[in-house]
Amino acid sequence: MKLTPSGVVLGLSPKRAANGKLLMDGSSAVQVEGKLQVAIAEERVTGLKREGGWRLSSEYCLSAAGLSNRDVSSVVISTCTDEVGDTGPEIQAIREAFPSASFHHVSHHLSHAAYGFATSPFDRALVVVSDAGGNTLERGGDRWWEASREQTSYYIATEDSIQLVDREFERPGAVGFGESFRAITYYLGWFSDLKANKTMALSGFGDAHRLGISSLFASDASGKLSGLLACDPLSPVGMVRKSMSGALSRKVPARPPDAEFLQEHSDLAALMQMSYESALIDRVGALCEKYSVRNVCLSGGVAYNCQANSALARVDGLRTWVPAAPGDTGQSLGNCIALSGFDIDRDSYGRRFLGGDSSVRRLPFVHGSRVIGPVPLSAPSAVIASHLLQSGVVIGNMRGPSEFGARALGNRSIFVDPTDRAVATRLNAGKERESFLPFAGAILEERLSNFFTDTMNSPYMQYVHKANSEGSARLKGVLHVDGTSRMQTVDSSPETAWLRELLEHQYRHTGIPVVLNTSLNGGGKPIAEVVADALPLLEAGLIDVLLVGEHGYFLEVSYARYRELNPDCGLG
Ligand SMILES: [Fe+2]
Repeated sequence: MKLTPSGVVLGLSPKRAANGKLLMDGSSAVQVEGKLQVAIAEERVTGLKREGGWRLSSEYCLSAAGLSNRDVSSVVISTCTDEVGDTGPEIQAIREAFPSASFHHVSHHLSHAAYGFATSPFDRALVVVSDAGGNTLERGGDRWWEASREQTSYYIATEDSIQLVDREFERPGAVGFGESFRAITYYLGWFSDLKANKTMALSGFGDAHRLGISSLFASDASGKLSGLLACDPLSPVGMVRKSMSGALSRKVPARPPDAEFLQEHSDLAALMQMSYESALIDRVGALCEKYSVRNVCLSGGVAYNCQANSALARVDGLRTWVPAAPGDTGQSLGNCIALSGFDIDRDSYGRRFLGGDSSVRRLPFVHGSRVIGPVPLSAPSAVIASHLLQSGVVIGNMRGPSEFGARALGNRSIFVDPTDRAVATRLNAGKERESFLPFAGAILEERLSNFFTDTMNSPYMQYVHKANSEGSARLKGVLHVDGTSRMQTVDSSPETAWLRELLEHQYRHTGIPVVLNTSLNGGGKPIAEVVADALPLLEAGLIDVLLVGEHGYFLEVSYARYRELNPDCGLG
């Protein structure tokens, strides 16, 4: 239903639900007359990883759009773990901060779905939303998991409507995909739902069948799923211990943090991954049949599972889409879209870089540290970057507006030679990541099939691609143990022109149109937004050079060496 697509719409998420639960992954987005202007995660402005709330991000967005709080005509929020429309102290604070605005709530899962579909290339699609839980569907209070609630929702979306057609795991006490991943991740010794990607990566070392359990989900005669883990979100490890009459915990001991990994831990991770992939493919297949649709959008935090996304994308006849920020950071965008009933400029939401463009205009001069800069570059920075990569240098890169979501797409990235496994190991240590975690890469879209058997385009790095023999032999720095790599396919969009220039230069000089591409941040920190966020990475030696537009910052000890190594590359 179209409510108010006109004027200045501000989408955001509160820091606390009405029941008092602290919420994470806050963000703000500003839409003017149906066109998205700017959006940013709260963490990028506060510097605190996964920070919830809206105060600094909304200030950032309004400032970047040349607007003030009083210009906002509509504020639209979403929460989770409480009912849509519940109010708490923070809602009053939001109302007071934007005194001229009308105030709206949208459902958490509708927001995920609206964002997932609006950024897709489809005019009709099945939209699957899965996370650890959205809004409750009845009064839940501070024990929301005992209420009926959103866990997996299915929508049919067209260009002017979105209809809820089914739900999964909505009954009180049900354990869905997101909660299951969370419990298994804690059981494997990572006490944060942020670490579910590690469970996915560990699954590559395991064999799901070795535990003698066919799945962590069961389906009834109609295909409806139920989770087999016990429900107690306050004790994720206990959820696994209490499951299946203790059968699972007898086969696999809980892993204390920092303890050695046993083969059984990898097998449990593989069981979780296989259970999800299999259930997802079955349910999507049935719903596509029922609603005569072949286009599928995935949204919600579980859609960050790029292995499962790829398994679904490999199903014959399906076309799939995963947006840049399927997790709760994307709620600010989804809120605006849901409020506007798709009467929006979809292209403005499909941009790769949604931040303001002033973040890298200020180039601080560095005094009293080991860093020299900013040094103006006397040759195109993409060419210099290529030369430095070929010399084994680790490059930090900042330019233009920032990416929205967890993936670095080139404007706030660290680039490394993708053939060098040793540098990848150094990066894992510097970013405080386990050594088995793989790195992603960026590749010229038209060269994907030279190195991989999977050919799905992946502008937001939401799929993994299986390497062919050439890729296996040459891309050691970006390959996981299972022979896959999460690739960003770089097309001819003007937004990624700089990255294309770098990749084309690499291809001409090395025959490999690929770079290792990982986010520009250190361990436990959000991706750098401004130069001051990135300079500590240089001082700490995580990166050797920081390129900011057409300027560079260098380590004092390495500046002379780079000039020596690259006498004709234009270092000023
Ligand atoms: Fe969510």
